[in-house]
Amino acid sequence: MLIKNCKLLYQGVEEVKDILVENGKITKVYNCSDIEELDIEEVVDVDGNWLLPGIIDAHTHMRDPGLCYKEDFETGSMACAKGGVTTFIDMPNTVPNTTTEEVLKDKESNSKGRSYVDYGFHFGGSRIDNSSEIKRVRDRVASTKIFLNMSTGDMLVEEEKILENLFRESKIVSVHAEEEMVEKAIELAKKFKKPLYLCHLSKASEVELLRKAKGEGVKVYGEVAPHHLFLNESHVNNLLLMKPELKTKEDNEALWIGIQDGTIDTIGTDHAPHTLEEKKSKRTYGIPGVENSLVMMLKELNKKIDMKKLQEVMSENPAKIFGIVGKGKIEIGFDADFVVVDLKNKEVIKNENVVSKCGWTPYNEIVGGGKILATFVRGEMVYDGKEFMNKNGRGVSYNV
Ligand code: DOR
Ligand code: ZN
Ligand code: ZN
Repeated sequence: MLIKNCKLLYQGVEEVKDILVENGKITKVYNCSDIEELDIEEVVDVDGNWLLPGIIDAHTHMRDPGLCYKEDFETGSMACAKGGVTTFIDMPNTVPNTTTEEVLKDKESNSKGRSYVDYGFHFGGSRIDNSSEIKRVRDRVASTKIFLNMSTGDMLVEEEKILENLFRESKIVSVHAEEEMVEKAIELAKKFKKPLYLCHLSKASEVELLRKAKGEGVKVYGEVAPHHLFLNESHVNNLLLMKPELKTKEDNEALWIGIQDGTIDTIGTDHAPHTLEEKKSKRTYGIPGVENSLVMMLKELNKKIDMKKLQEVMSENPAKIFGIVGKGKIEIGFDADFVVVDLKNKEVIKNENVVSKCGWTPYNEIVGGGKILATFVRGEMVYDGKEFMNKNGRGVSYNV
């Protein structure tokens, strides 16, 4: 396949190029290819629109198994494809929790043939010490996810000894940690010399803790969710409830500064779909995210974020941090995972267009920063701006 007339950042420079894809990988990047000479059957012309590396969302709750009335692998992956997300990593607070090798195996086999995009899994740390299971599976999962605060799914781990065992046996630890728990997580990471991924930082003080730890040379990374950048306490209602909760306008600003100065490494949506009935009838934490994260971030393009930084935090860094093989960059030898966006078409985000099973978006009626024209996974178009096709998503592998 040849993808022609792509505006892209190639080796740091903005250019218009043609990309040759063979066996799902980028094999050549031309200034201007000669189609006759190449003798290629499949040519896609993207007309000078932007082509970005596919978005990698390292923080999603796809609810499969056990809570599939909220989302499942198929609908969640459609939401990803529609949002330009070509790889998602699923969190362990499904039912049953992903805290044993057996449950992980079931997840791995049940996901086969059901996703439009590529995917991976985080394993869960359990308060019934599952460090021996962690040791067995750690090379085939993105990380061990540990909940240091109470959240949806009842996976809180509090006991010091058990936390230590979980850290000791992990390859990399991701944490749901808020405020002083961020400090606690950093201490454990230092003690056991394990890389640490701080999920969904939401507060200026948390960014400061991360900045300080990085300054001391600790291998620690920070993620921010779009809702903590774009929304604050003034927006809170029954729907816009999540953990961590929305903070202040000043916190929004501190998070943007964290992105700009390199303290924050990634954007992860914390895609946490719940039905409208659940959201309306009781306090239910979590909001969907994958479908709108890229178009929301594009709203701030060339204002709070430039194209290079956007691609780093949404593609390159998540791939690097978790060692996802072959992903995150437009470079020869990498997987041909792309999203094509028209920056001139500022489409309005609407509930009625949502494909996630939950059927709503926190950004209803907001004007996005562009329109997603197509999404490609390993050289196959999976979304053409309207329909979904080529349901050939597969599990990723890790090199750390
Ligand atoms: O708001 C949240 N929802 N925060 C979490 O940590 C979990 C998530 C969920 O699974 O619903
Ligand atoms: Zn969380
Ligand atoms: Zn989460």
